[in-house]
Amino acid sequence: MKIMVVGGGGREHAIVKKIKENKAVSEIYALPGNGGIAADAVCVPVDAKDIDGIVNFALEKGIDYAIVAPDDPLVLGAVDALEAKGVPCFGPNANAAIIEGSKVFSKQLMKKYGIPTAEYKVFEDMDAALKYLESAPIPTVIKADGLALGKGVIIAGTREEALDAVRSMMQDKVFGKSGDRIVIEEFLTGPEVSVLSFTDGKSVVPMISSMDHKRAGDGDTGLNTGGMGTVAPNPYYTDEIAAECMEKIFLPTVNAMKSEGRTFKGCLYFGLMLTEKGPKVIEYNCRFGDPETQVVLPLLESDLLTVMQAVTNEKLSETEVKFKDGSACCVIMASKGYPSAYEKGFEINIPSEVSESVYVAGAAIKDGKTVTSGGRVLGVTATADTLSEAIRKAYEKTEKISFEGAFYRRDIGAKALAALKED
Ligand code: AMP
Ligand code: GLY
Repeated sequence: MKIMVVGGGGREHAIVKKIKENKAVSEIYALPGNGGIAADAVCVPVDAKDIDGIVNFALEKGIDYAIVAPDDPLVLGAVDALEAKGVPCFGPNANAAIIEGSKVFSKQLMKKYGIPTAEYKVFEDMDAALKYLESAPIPTVIKADGLALGKGVIIAGTREEALDAVRSMMQDKVFGKSGDRIVIEEFLTGPEVSVLSFTDGKSVVPMISSMDHKRAGDGDTGLNTGGMGTVAPNPYYTDEIAAECMEKIFLPTVNAMKSEGRTFKGCLYFGLMLTEKGPKVIEYNCRFGDPETQVVLPLLESDLLTVMQAVTNEKLSETEVKFKDGSACCVIMASKGYPSAYEKGFEINIPSEVSESVYVAGAAIKDGKTVTSGGRVLGVTATADTLSEAIRKAYEKTEKISFEGAFYRRDIGAKALAALKED
């Protein structure tokens, strides 16, 4: 089978490596992939947002199955365009990807179907938003409606910050058209949990839970990033909470999308906050999370391609989706300066004994060498029977990898370990 994976980050590398385990797979193409993925798939220089380019490549190569991983091509309709030409795909159609593509849509969906989330108001007019903020409870959360490279959420700790955030989105258009409408919502507190799920629009199968570490520095300090590391499972997510989420959030969401004529097929990501009043949805993503995928897929015992095809064929309820016992930890190595300005082009040294555990996000090949080309350069994952062992092993491997200016958090999983000890 010829498989095509659209995207070029650590998440896509994890998908490629897992797909490779299926013996029926003969070729894997990554569009565009990256300098690290090139060791496991043929990288093709087609941008993930170039829908025509993606479709043309699939037809030229006779691709048997396509996996569209990033949010942009999903929201732009890559799956619709591929399906129209008869290419079976993993990923939602554009009319379902809107669950991530529009925060206003997702908030209104949750309100209409009684799915627990933060209280909110939608504004299309800046003056009305500014006026509302004069008396709104602080801290507050300001969200641009559309996709904003993961930066469209501002937690405002003061009224001034809130006003600035609204002006930057609605007046200065820092996120372009994504800021034409904004959501202002209640600030929630509690542990955060990421739950990725497989859904074929009828049934929903949650994957093992995980915990992201968004801030750049140890102890959750510094700027927000795309994610500096993950652990799975998330110790805050007990069986009891999982059952509550299934009943009040996962199934209602899948059914709501179906009722709206927007059947969601693919990976639906639930970003949850476990508040004192129960689990609430912070965000939906229409795709695998990054770097959650780098800890979730190594723990998947079932064959990924088989599960994905069951989603496509709406046969998920007949398919076994099994996770291994044990834990995983992924440490992200980033370029000095990230998430602000950083330099590129430094050679990456990965000893062969750890290369299987490495998921490359930002690398290119130059003069035959693999060099850094992004802020988040790679993730190093280890699995083990216990979380503490997974963390220890992940750091042991991380220390063997080097490139100039490399930095990583030293406390990935520390909070999760502390939560386990409180039990
Ligand atoms: P997002 O870009 O949607 O992933 O949001 C980024 C982060 O903002 C989330 O992971 C949360 O930590 C935080 N966040 C989003 N919405 C809220 C909220 N209503 N209350 C508190 N924190 C929030
Ligand atoms: N790790 C969060 C995300 O993928 O959006």
